[in-house]
Amino acid sequence: MIGQHLLVKKSGPLHGTAHLYGAKNAILVIMTALILTEGKSILDNVPNNADVRLMIILLEQLGAAVSFDTKAKCLTVDTTHINKSEVHPEIMNKIRASILVMGPLLARFGTASVAMPGGDLIGMRPINYHLEGFKKLGVEVQLQPPFVSARVIARALPSHTRIVLDYPSVGATENIMMLAVLSNTETTIVNAALEPEVYDLIDVLKKMGANISIAPAMIIIRGVSKLLPIVHSIIPDRLEAGTLLLAAAITGGSITIPNARADHLDIFIEKLRAMGHCVTTGFESPTFSPVGISLQATKTPVAISIKTAPYPGFPTDLQPLIMAALCTAQGISTVEETVYENRMMHAKELSKMGAQITVEGATATIRGVDTLYGSNVIAADLRASCTLVLAGFLAEGETKISGVNHWLRGYDGLDEKLNNMGASIMLADDSFIGQDDQKHTQISL
Ligand code: UD1
Repeated sequence: MIGQHLLVKKSGPLHGTAHLYGAKNAILVIMTALILTEGKSILDNVPNNADVRLMIILLEQLGAAVSFDTKAKCLTVDTTHINKSEVHPEIMNKIRASILVMGPLLARFGTASVAMPGGDLIGMRPINYHLEGFKKLGVEVQLQPPFVSARVIARALPSHTRIVLDYPSVGATENIMMLAVLSNTETTIVNAALEPEVYDLIDVLKKMGANISIAPAMIIIRGVSKLLPIVHSIIPDRLEAGTLLLAAAITGGSITIPNARADHLDIFIEKLRAMGHCVTTGFESPTFSPVGISLQATKTPVAISIKTAPYPGFPTDLQPLIMAALCTAQGISTVEETVYENRMMHAKELSKMGAQITVEGATATIRGVDTLYGSNVIAADLRASCTLVLAGFLAEGETKISGVNHWLRGYDGLDEKLNNMGASIMLADDSFIGQDDQKHTQISL
């Protein structure tokens, strides 16, 4: 089979308006939450990316009837005939978020059998918090690596169950919450993740009839006996917004994203401003609305420091991308990663392009240079692929990025949106390396 790579040429300044599709990290968990109901639900603003298509296959294998209008971005899922609680290891290996079926399957059928998603290059990514939380809710877990099977052994629980997470894990918070909504106890998740995507899941669960309230760093779930199908529009993808804002910033351009949520990106926006970019949001309008973000780039960005943290801290998923922008910012920047133990591989690839980066432990120090140079680089994960695309816009000549499967996982037509703003990104077959640009197939990713 012929592999593919991304070809990026020096681009910009990029100018334009872009519209965001739904957040990948919200739609995937919300698709699993539909297992909690019996009937037809309709989800709107659904991105057509590889992870969503895999999650559709997973739901179909469990017995759901799914139809996806990829033009209208509308997904219809009928969960009436779901009759399996085992997930094929093959699917589990392809999509980490499939672990999020465990909570809903346990809630609906009392059993769940899955293969544990392995670690990946950015970290070990264990699921111990998920499993410990399940146990507190009366579940017995059996581990036979790579398989994990679980079953509810205690339906009658104490009236209150308190689950304290060691770290505000997004996935563990979501999985535990999806089991707790159909239990007969009141569950408090302490040190819960409260990312916008977790809030979107909570909105969905409440529409279904769940009883959930939020206190500082806590989620309180009072179990109910039945949940109903829903109609819901997925929140806009804050990480896609971050990518587009950085594309305009890095190339000295401008962008307006009318449906971006400024309240989902507070620290990120402040960091762009600290670099010298002019960012305006709906909060600066007379209506003081969180909706809408515009950026006008400075021609002379300056160095800043960032440290990743759970929301509302700086999002780890935008850490690699902002590093690309810091490569040519005047002065010395520092970037500290606290969420994943090994999320610095992109630094090595950026260095191949001429960036001056030293990494010590979890901290990268970046000395701004005048320019980058096109090179052959490897994307090790989804956000690293965007990082290298952004660096490619800055770099003299052409940047060839392998590891395209990562790029395909998480976005719907992002290349098209960037190309509409004046960028040059193409998906090309490896067999065309070194041949005429005209021979590169330009297709929507
Ligand atoms: C989700 C997002 C991912 C984002 C991450 C952190 C989805 C589909 N993915 O991933 O894009 O980067 O949140 O914002 O929503 N951990 C444990 N034990 C556990 C669970 C997590 O040690 O049982 C650790 C992880 O290894 C990691 C940290 O906690 O170091 C945060 O992980 P978590 O918040 O769970 O990330 P995900 O839900 O996998």
